[in-house]
Amino acid sequence: MLPALLACVLLFTGCENRDPEKTETVRVGVAIYQQNDTFISNVVQEMERLAREKEGESLLKINLSIADGQSNQTLQMEQVDRFLDWGCDVLCVNMVDRTAAAVIVDKAEEAGVPVIFFNRQPVEEDLQRWEKAYYVGPRGEQSGIFQGQIVWEQWQEDRERVDRNGDGVLQYVMLEGEPSHQDALLRTEYSIKTLTNAGVLVEKLASDTANWNRGQAAAKMSQWHQEFGSQIEAVFANNDDMALGAIDVLLEAGVAPEEMPVIVGVDATAPALEAMAAGTLSGTVQNAKEMPQVLMDLALSLYAGEDPAQAADLTAEHYVWLPYREVNRENFRSFQEE
Ligand code: GAL
Ligand code: CA
Repeated sequence: MLPALLACVLLFTGCENRDPEKTETVRVGVAIYQQNDTFISNVVQEMERLAREKEGESLLKINLSIADGQSNQTLQMEQVDRFLDWGCDVLCVNMVDRTAAAVIVDKAEEAGVPVIFFNRQPVEEDLQRWEKAYYVGPRGEQSGIFQGQIVWEQWQEDRERVDRNGDGVLQYVMLEGEPSHQDALLRTEYSIKTLTNAGVLVEKLASDTANWNRGQAAAKMSQWHQEFGSQIEAVFANNDDMALGAIDVLLEAGVAPEEMPVIVGVDATAPALEAMAAGTLSGTVQNAKEMPQVLMDLALSLYAGEDPAQAADLTAEHYVWLPYREVNRENFRSFQEE
């Protein structure tokens, strides 16, 4: 079996640990928007690993059940209902449609089951419907600012290479994530704002959504490459998979790494760090590395009925904000070793 496939099978069958010494079982229902998302599947795999680790060092049995929403909010609602019927102790929800959180908060409250949203941020009013509704994630604008900084540094240090036509203006294309995702909106806005605030003149050649997806990004980039060719001086991608899709097209077209535009992504996935080593990707942003740990800590503390503020750094009672980290040509090797 392919290693990736094997990992999925292990991941989605859950792990039955029948150790008779275990005295307590915690049931955590994890609903994700789409299993087929590189970043989210990494988060879930790491949660699985942490759960096994925690079991190894305590008398707790942690039953982590994962449901794939397949980008369908109706399906995800059914999955949440099933988790509640199953008697789960805590819900972790990565919403398909982040504007639909109110219904889930109300269901959770009725069942008395704390709910932790992550990565796809509900609106504030929805979180405030119940004291046991939380959100764990980073502040999207920070990732955009880091992208802007990475490009700005290269614009400063390597102007001749970056500003190919020498007009003093940065011509760029933007590959956007899902249309209403807070990270897509904020990265698109703040990456460019950071450059213009620093006094760089920019010109947008094209932008479109590619839904975080490598194949869709490749399709867009292929059109833009035909239309604009070497006029493209920078490619801003709202995540690494889309940046890699753009790189796929340029490599396929025979563009050498040193001839490529500046290309930036977000997530710092393993393949993105490899692309940095290969000199194709110019930079990325590590996305809330602490998320799986914080989700597990918070879930277990809520299960135990403890004060969640002891387990996580809560802001305004409902939010746990996690950091992004800039990954550039100087420091990327230290991220590869993590
Ligand atoms: C973003 C991440 C994307 C995608 C998305 C899913 O934060 O950068 O790659 O995983 O979340 O909601
Ligand atoms: Ca230019």
